Order: sequence, then structure tokens, then C-alpha cells
Amino acid sequence: TGNRTFTMIKPDAVENGHIGAILEKITGAGFNIVAMKYTQLSRRDAQEFYAIHKERPFFGELVEFMTRGPIVAAILEKDNAVDDFRALIGATNPAEAAEGTIRKLFATSIGENAVHGSDSDENAGIEGAFHFSGREVF
Ligand code: CMP
Repeated sequence: TGNRTFTMIKPDAVENGHIGAILEKITGAGFNIVAMKYTQLSRRDAQEFYAIHKERPFFGELVEFMTRGPIVAAILEKDNAVDDFRALIGATNPAEAAEGTIRKLFATSIGENAVHGSDSDENAGIEGAFHFSGREVF
């Protein structure tokens, strides 16, 4: 459905104590949390979730990073959710992220960039279904 996106608060942001501040930014921007869990990705989970990047030079580093500690996974609902959420989080590289964006505020590097946001409605559906069963979405 076009009004949902999927996000993860990544291990760096969890380690740095930013879960609460990031959730506040998300709900403050008008997103409704329709599913959420605190969890940790296995290596297999991360390899499958990021399969599209498996030929990239940073793939190994990405899997190491995303599995090194817990994450918060969530499905968010809002009109125009995918595009509005990408605007809220800012550019992949925090050095290029706009003022006030979640990555500008909380990310440390291009790899350890605090949050994930789906890049299309199709991927939002796939990524949400990867993490949540129907009974976990409200
Ligand atoms: P995201 O866009 O959520 O999903 C793909 C991730 O790969 C991206 O966030 C970064 O965490 C990571 N990534 C992208 N480019 C690089 C890079 N050049 N070096 C390391 N990690 C990267």
C-alpha cells in the first residue's frame, strides 16, 4: 500500500542512545507506528535483507555492522510515506544530509548512518513482510 514505509533504527543509533529521540522525530513528523520490534539480525537475515547490495565492495562491512547489536524495526504509515520518510532521514551520507534530518543529527558515517528507509512502495512491502507477520501489524 502506498501510505506505508519500513524503517530500522540501526545498531549505531541504538548504541549511542538515540532510540527515543529518533522515534520522537518520526512521530513528530506525522508518521503513525503500525508495527514495531526490538530485535537483532542474524548474518543470514542481513545477507537476505541486503541481497541487492551483495556485489558491492561494502557488503561484508554492511552485514557486520547491521548484525553487531540490536535494532528497532518498524512499519510507518502516513500519506506519501516513502518519499516523506526519505526526506526526514536525509541523504545516505550524513555529511550530505540536510540540517534537521535524522542522519544529520544522529548518523556518524555513510556506513553507520543511524536509520534505514525503504526506497519504493514495492520495497516497503517486501521489507515490512520480511520483519513482521500480519498479526504484528496494527
Ligand atoms: P541504506 O541506504 O539504509 O541501505 C544500504 C546501506 O549500505 C546504506 O544505508 C549504508 O548503511 C550502506 N552503505 C552505502 N554506501 C556505503 C559505503 N560507501 N560504504 C559503506 N556502507 C555503505
